[in-house]
Amino acid sequence: MDRSSRQMRLGVFVQTPGHHVGGWRHPEADARTPNLALMQHIATTAEAAKFDMFFLGDGFATGYGEHPSTIGKFEPLGLLSALAMSTTRLGLAATASTTYAEPYHVARSFASLDHLSAGRAAWNVVTTAYSKSSAVFGRQHPPHAERYAMAEEFVEACRLLWDSWDDDSFIADKQAGLFVRPGSLHVPAFDGKYFSVRGGLNVPRPPQGHPVLIQAGSSGPGQALAARIADVVFTAQNDLAEAQAFYSSLKAQLAGCGRAVDAALVMPGVMPVVGRTEREAREIFAELNRNIDTAQAFTVLSERLGADMSVHPLDGPVPDVPETEHLKSRATLLIQMARRENLSLRELFHRVAAARGHLLPIGTPLQIADVLERWFREGAADGFNVMPPFFPGQFDAFARGVVPILQERGLFRADYTGTTLRDHLGLRRPADRRG
Ligand SMILES: Cc1cc2nc3c(=O)[nH]c(=O)nc-3n(C[C@H](O)[C@H](O)[C@H](O)COP(=O)(O)O)c2cc1C
Repeated sequence: MDRSSRQMRLGVFVQTPGHHVGGWRHPEADARTPNLALMQHIATTAEAAKFDMFFLGDGFATGYGEHPSTIGKFEPLGLLSALAMSTTRLGLAATASTTYAEPYHVARSFASLDHLSAGRAAWNVVTTAYSKSSAVFGRQHPPHAERYAMAEEFVEACRLLWDSWDDDSFIADKQAGLFVRPGSLHVPAFDGKYFSVRGGLNVPRPPQGHPVLIQAGSSGPGQALAARIADVVFTAQNDLAEAQAFYSSLKAQLAGCGRAVDAALVMPGVMPVVGRTEREAREIFAELNRNIDTAQAFTVLSERLGADMSVHPLDGPVPDVPETEHLKSRATLLIQMARRENLSLRELFHRVAAARGHLLPIGTPLQIADVLERWFREGAADGFNVMPPFFPGQFDAFARGVVPILQERGLFRADYTGTTLRDHLGLRRPADRRG
């Protein structure tokens, strides 16, 4: 693609009332939950700003000491189905676990969402890093390598399920008495080590062929899976050089799998703290940090590092943390950031309570647009997953302030040119079994 016409992709990573642990307490945060009106406001604001997609993460833990934005919320697919009715172009992406679900259920839910939204569904394929999630299923949490082996099978089974029917199978020919076209059903026969599927999907083939597949694990096995199956790669990065290294490593692995370099788009998360002046932005950030609940922030930090950090003095150094079976790439990212910037445990604690290790630019819309442009132009990103510290105030500020600058610079679309999420992202539509 001509470098000058290359377009940035933007998603909004929706975690209400806010990604920052203290975000919900800000006066411009709407902290009621669950909150359909807020979700509709975010979706319509994102669509008016021509965002590619609205993204929901997911996990299964709840409790007093968890991040406030994760403990009481809507089930993602149900919510996106409702939002499909209040939007017409915006991509609708949800997370579903390959460790704690069956391929049939996931394939069917996303196929259904793709129909409800006329081709705007995306699935964030996650292996679910946190062992806490296993409790609600009454199961042992599988080790890291096994979770990825399960994910490979899971996705393969889902693809077969989506291809159960050819694109135009449901002809409903009343004259001929044919509801479906003969020969258009291809019953999957998948026998894996972890999953077996021997029956077709009772949903017609999705409008996008397959919903857009997102992959968000950045460890070695995570990247390998992304290179094989992902259309979009979410990642946490906070240093330009390391983000560039991740980007080129992933693009090289794509080529190794026989895929084009633009067959998968790399979208790091970014938490922009937007103010009318830099000073105002810094004040907003300081206020958010004053509102951090220590127990909740320790939970977020300990989960990311895979060890209980609350036993260490906050003003001491960041201790060495052994590699665990949880989320490997994020622990490495955070320890590297702490060592590179010589952070105390308190400083790391604040960074993680804010953006969990993602890029964290603080400033005016112009300053934030400059950072995004630099990462985009200098080989670190194809776009960004925007993670406002609180909703709706900071998302509105981004949509109102930063997006028009990106549009003026020709980096981001002024309007949609297609109707499906694959259209927005410039992705190929997978053909049906007839090829
Ligand atoms: C932007 C982004 C969003 C993510 N969302 C989720 C999520 O909703 N649920 C989840 O279990 N993991 C989520 N993850 C975590 C990864 O899917 C993965 O489980 C984790 O990074 C561990 O994988 P790794 O060991 O390969 O790094 C997300 C990661 C990123 C970068």
